[in-house]
Formats: sequence, C-alpha cells, structure tokens
Amino acid sequence: MSTTENRAEFGSKIGFILSAAGSAVGLGNIWKFPGKAYACGGGAFLIIYLIIVALVGTTVMMAEFTIGRKTHKNAVGALRELNNKFAWIGGLGVLTGFIILSYYCQVGGWAMYYIVAYITDVATVWADPMAYFLNMLGANGFPLAALAWGLVFLALTAFIITHGTAGIEKMSTILMPVLFVLLIGLMIRSCTLPGADEGLSYMLHVDFSTINGTAILTALGQAFFSLSLGMGVMMTYASYLSSDDNLVSNTAIVCTLDTLVALFAGFMIIPAVFATGIAPGMGGAFGFATLAGVFMAIPGGQFIGMLFYFLLFFAAITSSTSILEGCTAFLVEEKGTERKKTILVLCVVLYIIGVLYTLSQAYMNIKGIWISREGLQFPIFGDFLEYLTDRLLLPLGAFFTTLFVGWIWGPDNSIEEATSYGKYKFTLAPAYKFIVKFIDPIAIGAIIVAGMVFGMSIS
Ligand code: TRP
Repeated sequence: MSTTENRAEFGSKIGFILSAAGSAVGLGNIWKFPGKAYACGGGAFLIIYLIIVALVGTTVMMAEFTIGRKTHKNAVGALRELNNKFAWIGGLGVLTGFIILSYYCQVGGWAMYYIVAYITDVATVWADPMAYFLNMLGANGFPLAALAWGLVFLALTAFIITHGTAGIEKMSTILMPVLFVLLIGLMIRSCTLPGADEGLSYMLHVDFSTINGTAILTALGQAFFSLSLGMGVMMTYASYLSSDDNLVSNTAIVCTLDTLVALFAGFMIIPAVFATGIAPGMGGAFGFATLAGVFMAIPGGQFIGMLFYFLLFFAAITSSTSILEGCTAFLVEEKGTERKKTILVLCVVLYIIGVLYTLSQAYMNIKGIWISREGLQFPIFGDFLEYLTDRLLLPLGAFFTTLFVGWIWGPDNSIEEATSYGKYKFTLAPAYKFIVKFIDPIAIGAIIVAGMVFGMSIS
C-alpha cells in the first residue's frame, strides 16, 4: 500500500488481489477443507460447495467489497456511515474474528512445529505419522512444544501488524505462486500413489444421499471461512482500494483462486488418505499426518515436506494478520484504545483460549478432563469453537451483510460502486441484485435456523 494524502491505498491492482487472496488462502483451504470434504461425502460435498461459492460466496464478497470501498472505512465505521443503526454488524464480526484467531494461531503453530520436525526429526515423523501428530498434541504428556509454537505464531502475527505489512506483501508475490505450484505438484503425486484411485473416485463420485443438513451447513460455513467472509475483513481490505479499481473482476479472481487452492488441497489429501490408510477420526490430522504418505513417496520428500509446511505457515500468517488487524482497527478506531496496548491485551486473551483449544485435542481426553470424542455428547472444546464460528457467527455476519445491502443500503448502490459508476461491465448485475436481496438472506437464514433446530451433529 502506498500512502496518499488522506488514507493509504493499494499501489497496484495486483497488490490488492494478492492481499485479498492472501487473506482468503490459508489454513481454511489446506487444513480444514479436505477434512470436511472427506467427512461430508466427497463428490456430493464438492458440488454443494462449488454451488455455494458461486452463488453465495461471490455475492457476499461483492457486498463486502462495495461497502468497504464506498466508505473507505473499517467495517464498523463503514456500516455506520451508510446507516447508523447497523454498525453492530461490524462489531459482531470483530467478535467472530477474535474467536477464529484464538485457534487459528494454534494451528499456525503446529505448521511451524512441522517445519522443524521435517528438518530435524523426519525419520520419527515417517515411522508413524499419526502417532507423531497425536504426540505433538499431548497424547503422551503435556504438549509444551506445540503450545510454545502457537505462542511464536501469535507473537509473529502481532509483530507484523505493529511493524507494517509491506514486507509480507512483497514476500507473498513470490511465495503464494510457489505454494500454488507446489500444491499442483503434490496433488499429481498423491493421485498417482498406489491405492489413490479409490480416493479419487470418492472425490469424483457424486452420491447425493450423503448430503444432509449438516453437510450443507458445513459447506456454507466452510465457504465463508475460506473466503474470509462474514466478519468485515474484505470490507476493510476494499476500503484501501481506489475508486476506479474493478470490483467485479476482483471478486471473480479472489473467489476463483481461493476455491482452486481448496480443490488442489482436497485432491492432494483425500487420495493420500486412501493410499496410506491414515484416515483418522479427526479431519484436523489430514494436513499433518496423512500427507506424510505423499512426502515419503517423493524423492527429496524431506525437503518438499519442509517447504510445504513453510508455505502453509506463510499462507496462515497472511490470514491471521488480516484477522488481527480487523480486531485491532475496530478497537483503536472505534473505542480509542492505544494500538500497541490493544494488541498486547488481545494476544494474552487469545493465547489463553488457544491453549485450551490445543489441550482439548488430545491431552484433556487423556487426562479425563474433557469429554472424549468416542462418547461424544457435547463437542469437545475445540469443535465447539469451530462450530461457533463456522456454523453460526460467520453465517450470521454474512446474513446481516446481505440483508443490509439488499434492503437497507440497496443493491443498486452496491452495483454502482462495483462498476465504478458504469465504468466497468457487470453483466451479471441483475442476478447479483436478485441473489443479494432474496437468495442470500433466505438461504443463509434457513441454514442457520436448520442448524440450530436440528442440532449440530458431528461430521
Ligand atoms: N480465509 C482464511 C483461511 O482460509 C481465514 C480467514 C482470514 C478468515 N480472515 C478471515 C476467515 C476472516 C473468516 C473471516 O484460512
């Protein structure tokens, strides 16, 4: 971003796309998506997911982009300027971001743990990948190292947003394309492992009987999480755009890139699940334990594995900084708190919740402190946090955003902003208007209510 007289703006079009895509592409694509696709029926889930991204994801992103760019303000300020009564939608987003960040930084820490593991201890990882993963999480004693890496990741996130994101934006122009290419390579290798064809057919075979309310709710929450929607992050990003950037093409590019990365990750991990037989009950282990089978099967696998976790870590940090910046900007700009102090206090609370998240993965079960996954009646704490954000708070944020654009601010205003007052073509504008007014609020609302009424079964 380069500074103009009043407010920073992105120096170039590609700078914005990379930042928005950097926020979108993260642990959600690589760590979360494959696990959900696996649990919710493979091919049928993919189709539901793609439909949701194409209809709901793109329109919610467009809504957020236009609100942000129209006002050039942070999420809460932007909504307040357009209609004073709706600033709380932005406040809701800040709460959501805070909860996401608490566990996001822990998983980012796991990625760092694995960078080191691949450098120093790869033989042990490969000897029994699942045992290694569970051991990291405390299956054999207090998971001090994992918690320490979680702290390092959080501290790094805080450091970056206090010292400026220019450096990381520069790095992402190189590292994000490298990640993209590496994922394609690993996907090809994984799909050609002996036994992988079963996984491929699982992902390509569409059996709609596997789709139930939980799967649809999961796909919706996953789409918002993956696209960084529902908490005003994309509003804040677009607020730094100049008035003649093309929001129509930006929306299409960011949604496409993010979804491609999720698909690559899915087709990298699920075939490996079948090929290696490492199909643990916890989807979270896929990116860590299952992938070992792919790295073991490639020449130079140790180096490739290390590179992969480094890039995963990098993708995670470009997302975590976007969330922490959102929370901090809100408190500083709206509540007048001091920036550095705000970040410090946020991080302390975030870390305490995060520690509980990591401990709930294995250690608490073993100590009998928390309900075990087998006798699951209530979700364990980690599941609870993820369900709260993905299945309730993000959809709620998106629901109110589309209601706001569709009925309060008005889709025509949003379309004018999207096309820079007619400068750019927006062939699908009538469809956008219809979806943002009717389909989005009704579909999102119905799915949220269904989720609450029918319960949130584990998948
Ligand atoms: N989209 C990121 C991922 O897939 C996570 C993320 C960053 C996010 N900013 C967000 C999720 C805002 C929801 C809202 O990993």
